[in-house]
Amino acid sequence: MDNLTVIVLAAGGGTRMKSKTMKVLHPVGGRSMIGHVLSAVQATAPSRIVAVVGHQREQVGPHIQQLVPDAVLAVQETQDGTGHAVRVACEAADVREGTVVVAAGDTPLLDGQSLREFVADHTASGRAVSILTGIVPEPKGYGRIVRDRTGDVVAIVEEKDADDEQRGIHEINSGILAFDAAFLTDALGRIGNDNASGEYYLTDTVQIARDAGLRVGAYIVDDVRQTEGANDRAQLAELGRELNRRIVTRWMKDGVTVMDPATTWIDADVVLEPDVTILPGTQLLGATVVREDAVVGPDCTLKDCEIGLGARVVRTHGELAVIGDRATVGPYAHLRPGTRLGVEGKIGGFVETKNAVIGDRAKVPHLSYVGDAEIGEGANIGAGTIFANYDGVAKHRTVVGRQARTGSNNTFIAPVSIGDGASTGGGAVVREDVPPGALAVSAGSQRNIEGWVVSRRSGTPQAEAAQGGVVDGDADTGVS
Ligand code: UD1
Ligand code: CA
Repeated sequence: MDNLTVIVLAAGGGTRMKSKTMKVLHPVGGRSMIGHVLSAVQATAPSRIVAVVGHQREQVGPHIQQLVPDAVLAVQETQDGTGHAVRVACEAADVREGTVVVAAGDTPLLDGQSLREFVADHTASGRAVSILTGIVPEPKGYGRIVRDRTGDVVAIVEEKDADDEQRGIHEINSGILAFDAAFLTDALGRIGNDNASGEYYLTDTVQIARDAGLRVGAYIVDDVRQTEGANDRAQLAELGRELNRRIVTRWMKDGVTVMDPATTWIDADVVLEPDVTILPGTQLLGATVVREDAVVGPDCTLKDCEIGLGARVVRTHGELAVIGDRATVGPYAHLRPGTRLGVEGKIGGFVETKNAVIGDRAKVPHLSYVGDAEIGEGANIGAGTIFANYDGVAKHRTVVGRQARTGSNNTFIAPVSIGDGASTGGGAVVREDVPPGALAVSAGSQRNIEGWVVSRRSGTPQAEAAQGGVVDGDADTGVS
């Protein structure tokens, strides 16, 4: 919008969080609280965003600039009230004309669409001040909207300054206001701090506009939770649950099956395609993308992962992994960063992968660790294989060729390569490269020493069993 300045207030201490992390930086739904606010604010296409920082600004400032590189940071040295904060912002950005919108930095449910509608209503009405208000059952703590007999807004009275009658008002100031900039900058110079908190109240501008004969009005929002702030961790969890409910509902409307919305957590930036199915106990976090017809869950946590068309991921913990179309993963797989599984590939039960490129139709079906590896198309890795990538000092790579078949319980001591179409025997410890098409065996030939148990372990249940005697199961307390 033309000449729109949005001021986001984030200087307050947030002491009730009892945290070394500043309040607005607490994460919810995969973003910081202020991240949600900034994203809603950006939907109004403002000419500039000014963030007021104070408490722990060395944490808050860089975070804001990372999200909105051209945001202006206004430093409020002491938190002398919302009116003071907005004055500091207007001075820092040299705001003189146009429209100014003020919002708080701790309202994670704020939605860009609602903010756009509010700003449009304000500019169309030609008002000096517009207040985004809501009717709430429990108005405690909020500024109350005082109207005259004709219904016009005459003032906002803070809880601390309100009389009994005013405390009974259920229409509250959400904290989001819009102003004509020229009026605002003039009015901010006139407000005082003669009130119960000794602070400069932004809300006093309402009275000033009325006295000057300018228009003031309220825009009542139905979905008042959008403007709700989190002051402590219980409120944060509550808003987090509501945010998640909204995100999950939106995806269901867009064609995603969610079997149990109550145990499904989806971050704000996740992308799901139609006909994806999410089974209970699943968290899709960060920038995770799930393609059409894939089934994820039950019990998966996937952060920044990409799951291909029709893939199946069961009881898996994954981060920064890419799973190919129609591939299968789990149950009990651990996908660490840099895992890439090809089309129709398989990572099976109790398999951990890291920095591993596993080709199309290649399989690592059981009980293995695959680190710093490249596995060719169609290869099959035997059960219980360890890619020994670490020599205690440095990490090394293992390459397994196309259509290789490696035996069970192998150890590949990197750096090493196994050629295309090669095989390895069971229990092989592969230290040297295996040429294409060769069979590598490293275990010695087997020797059986007859009668060893009876001569060396006589009197034990094992020896008794070896002699065909009665086996006393209860007596066997040894570890096996
Ligand atoms: C404010 C409003 C109140 C409204 C409520 C909605 C005023 C005087 N009151 O009250 O009418 O119902 O919000 O939540 O405006 N901040 C600064 N610098 C300051 C003071 C505050 O940056 O000097 C920031 C805070 O970090 C917070 C926001 O402004 O994000 C609101 O401040 P807060 O002290 O919580 O105001 P309330 O008393 O809740
Ligand atoms: Ca507040």
